[in-house]
Parts: sequence; C-alpha cells; structure tokens
Amino acid sequence: VIYPVVLCGGSGTRLWPRSRKDAPKPFLPLVDEDTLFEATLRRCADPERFSPPVVVTGVGHRTHVESQAAAFPGTRVIVEPMARNTAAAIALAALRLPADAIMLVCPSDHHIADTQAFREAASTAAKLAADGWLVAFGITATAPETGYGYIRRGARLEGGFEVERFVEKPDLKTAMSFLADDSYSWNGGIFVFRAETFLEELARHRPNLSAAVEDAVANGREDGPSFHPDAGAFAAIEPESVDYAVMENTARAAVVPVSMGWSDIGNWHALRDAREGDAEGNRTRGNVELVDCRNVLAETDGPRISVIGLEDVAIVVDGNEVLVTTMAGAQKVGKLTGAVNQ
Ligand code: GDD
Ligand code: MG
Repeated sequence: VIYPVVLCGGSGTRLWPRSRKDAPKPFLPLVDEDTLFEATLRRCADPERFSPPVVVTGVGHRTHVESQAAAFPGTRVIVEPMARNTAAAIALAALRLPADAIMLVCPSDHHIADTQAFREAASTAAKLAADGWLVAFGITATAPETGYGYIRRGARLEGGFEVERFVEKPDLKTAMSFLADDSYSWNGGIFVFRAETFLEELARHRPNLSAAVEDAVANGREDGPSFHPDAGAFAAIEPESVDYAVMENTARAAVVPVSMGWSDIGNWHALRDAREGDAEGNRTRGNVELVDCRNVLAETDGPRISVIGLEDVAIVVDGNEVLVTTMAGAQKVGKLTGAVNQ
C-alpha cells in the first residue's frame, strides 16, 4: 500500500482575481465541480492501492483543508506553523510514517485528466521505490517553461529510467536547449519513495534541514487527527524546495514517464486549456454572451460579460475586480497591483 502525501502550501497569484488570499487556488473548483485539492484526494481514493492521505499544510490553509477533506475519511493533517518549502514539508510527513512506507507526494494544485494513468504510474513507481529509488514523474515537455524542473533520463530500469541529471528552474536559454533534446522531460512535481530513503538522502545533502525537522517532530504535539510540529524548531529551517535540496543532488533518482493529461494550472491560459471548450473553443461560466469569439475564457460571478470578435483572451469578473488579458499575457497576472495587494 502506498501513502499519499498531499502538499498544500501555495497561493496561486497568477489566477487572480478568482484565486485570493482567503480563497487560494487549491481550494477553488477551477476545472470542474471539484476543487483542485478535492480532485487530488479523489485521485488517491483507491483503497486497493492507497492508504488514506496525509495532508501537509500551513496554519492559513488549515480550515479549508479540514472542511474539504471531511469527505475523505481517515485523512491526517500536519499543520506547519510557518511555510518552510517542500523539502521540510515532505520530511515532516516522512517522519510521521513508518520507515518502510512508500510515499506518493502530490501537489494539491494540479489538474490530471487521466486518473487511471496516474494510478498506474504510481504503482509502477512504487516498485522502483521499494528498490530504493527516489522516483519522479516525467512529463513530455511542450514549451521552454522556466518554472519547472527538467529531468534527463539515463539507463533503463523496470518501468522507467535512472535520472542522469535533474535541473530545477533553468533559465530560458537552457530550457530551450532541453526542449530540443528528447532525452529531457519536465518534472511533474509528483514523487514516490520510501520514507527512509528520502530521509537518508535529505540527511546526506541537507544535514541541518534534516536535523531541524527531526527536532520539530520530536517536540511536536498531536491533536486528534492533526499533528503540530514544534514552532521554534521549525522556524529555524532554511526554506528550500525538494527539487533543489534533494532531487538535484541525489544519485538515487529515477523517472517514470507518464502521459496523463497533466497541467499545473499555472495561469489563465493553462486553465483555459484544461477546461472543456464549446465548438468555437470558448469556455464560459456565469452570465456570458460571446459573438464571433474563439478560444475565449470568460467567467463572472456577477455582472454579465458581453464580447464581440475576440480571440485568445481571458475575461474574469470576481466581485469588484475585472481582469482582461491576452493568453500570451496570462503569465504576468501575478504582477498586477490587484494581485499583489489582494
Ligand atoms: N505544505 C507545504 N508547505 N506545501 C508547500 C510549501 C510549504 O511550505 N511550499 C509549496 N508547497 C506545495 C504547493 O502548494 C504545491 O502544491 C507543491 O508544494 C509544489 O510547490 P510549488 O511552489 O508549486 O513548486 P513549483 O511549481 O515552483 O515547482 C515544482 O513543481 C513543478 C511542476 O509543477 C517543482 O517540483 C518543479 O520541479 C516541477 O516542475
Ligand atoms: Mg507549482
């Protein structure tokens, strides 16, 4: 059995004005009726393969997590007193699970269209993890994204490959060279490993971080289904993501290539593509009238949106905020004054 560990710490400013500080991205029904967080739990609700999940989240997200996880019995929650990025978040979960537990680490803010492919890849990865590999999910790269990790595959393994090289968030020039080389894939941000393998590699490459998390767990406190690491010990941690802290450095990384309709829903452009379109490729929600429009995303929770003759734009009305952007500009939404001061 595999232990899903769901990481829930992000905010999603590029999906402003829908995603807000008090209603962040993972907790919104962005693609269909499920929120991204609920969809993550549902993907892992397969008792043949997975045990109930452990959710690692911050104090700020806790009430959202508890209310949306209520439909998933057996969910345990680890509440971080402050955000210290993913290496620490994963280590907390690893220390709370049996040493030989196979962990399936999942971001809570991705969309995966093909649940079956995801589950099968998790089982394939679990076999490699049982042999001591730290397994990443490899996604076919389709653009020179600089916000992703890139994985160069090496020697073949059963169901996957050894990782020859892991490069987190390369610059654009490097990303373009990786895109042109089909031995590279994107890192999907989903990992499978034995708890003890992860902890060994973390201790090897980041001994201080590892010791501080151990301290925070040893002095933590249980409160029903939730666990609170010690705030003093946790505060001392130098924030670093698992990609930089472990995946770039370990010699025990493997990759399982998987095609599952993955999207990290990073912005309105990606969200448009994840949603089902009509015959003209438009995606609308709420009171919207489009004439001669194509590939437009338009949604409103109030006033009617009426548009004529536009293509590849997003128009979002949320309360007293209105966003209009080209799809090409969607990447910059997080820099708008409204998004910064939300
Ligand atoms: N509990 C907790 N605490 N969760 C966190 C924290 C934290 O301090 N920081 C981030 N997370 C959660 C986020 O909510 C998200 O679900 C997941 O961990 C990944 O963090 P991101 O901050 O979204 O990482 P990223 O998108 O920059 O990069 C990662 O994902 C890419 C794919 O989307 C990396 O793994 C990349 O290599 C990868 O390509
Ligand atoms: Mg992300």
